Amino acid sequence: MAHKILVTGGTGYIGSHTTVELINAGYEVVIIDNLSNSNVKVLDGIEKITGVRPAFVEGDCTDLATLDRLFKEHPGIDGIINFAASKAVGESVQRPLLYYRNNLVTLINLLEEMPANGVKGIVFSSSCTVYGEPDVNPIDETAPIKEATSPYGNTKQISEEIIRDFVASGAPVKSILLRYFNPVGAHPSAEIGELPNGVPNNLVPYLTQTAAGIRKELTIFGDDYNTPDGTCIRDFIDVTDLAKAHVIAMKRMLDGEDTRAVEVFNLGTGNGLSVLQLINAFEHATGVKVPHKIGARREGDIEKIWADPKKANEVLGWKAEMDIEDTMRNAWRWQCKLGK
Ligand code: WQD
Repeated sequence: MAHKILVTGGTGYIGSHTTVELINAGYEVVIIDNLSNSNVKVLDGIEKITGVRPAFVEGDCTDLATLDRLFKEHPGIDGIINFAASKAVGESVQRPLLYYRNNLVTLINLLEEMPANGVKGIVFSSSCTVYGEPDVNPIDETAPIKEATSPYGNTKQISEEIIRDFVASGAPVKSILLRYFNPVGAHPSAEIGELPNGVPNNLVPYLTQTAAGIRKELTIFGDDYNTPDGTCIRDFIDVTDLAKAHVIAMKRMLDGEDTRAVEVFNLGTGNGLSVLQLINAFEHATGVKVPHKIGARREGDIEKIWADPKKANEVLGWKAEMDIEDTMRNAWRWQCKLGK
């Protein structure tokens, strides 16, 4: 019988793409989402792509009673992929308690429910932010964890520790911690993608909105960094590539033998691209110009970081496959669908 997977935050950006890949791989999906940063119409997009409408619970994972009900109404959940979290770095500085409550209470509640309901594995969305400014690039999983520079980043570090401590206590669960680099793009069908919430903080949504004429120009935050063209370098990973890694991680926990109880993987392409190079890739791929100017550095930005994804390549058998220009075309198609 197909494994049943609970995807928390499943109507969100990465959650919706992962739900599509889970369904495509034959899994049954139950989504819980409080719709705080997503829209219930995302379910229509998932259904259009896969032909299957996942079960949906509108609710908040910080409420244990809601989760109790969910597990009663949807018995037989084998695994959890936890995307339900707040993710805006700047907002987390303004509203730290909101971030600690949402991100940590959600995780604690889910972990608590796992043994009681026979849930065997949890995939956790971590971030390359745990590495801070790397001493060397590309960076692998053995690199030291640096002190977090925002409450958001701190929730990722603390969450990893909570999971490790819980598993070390003898709890009968496995976990895979996935450290994402910079997820970008949208589903090639343009049925799902990243939904903007006000003025985007992240580069690609700002870029596509500028290309669409919604924003006047993109400001590049600094061109005096110690990089070849002076702009920051990131590892931009296509959201569908990223989503596929979750399916493999889940399969490994549920069906793999002799895997370690907690494993951690970097999810990146292994290629660093500067902000300017990304803008060029977008323009080249779409033929659409992005008005931009150089502005001041953004406080707290990391100069350069890109992944060594060898462990994920070799152990998970997963590799980022999308070409950045295809990814930019998908991002643009999605922006065009959202409107100008
Ligand atoms: C990328 C580069 C900016 C906007 C953050 C979090 C990380 C992850 C993703 C969750 C930087 C530059 C951006 C703009 C610009 N978390 N930039 N003009 O900062 O690498 O990572 O988001 O969702 O944990 O830390 O991503 O997309 O904000 O920035 O020049 O208008 O683009 O300075 O160099 P970042 P980003």
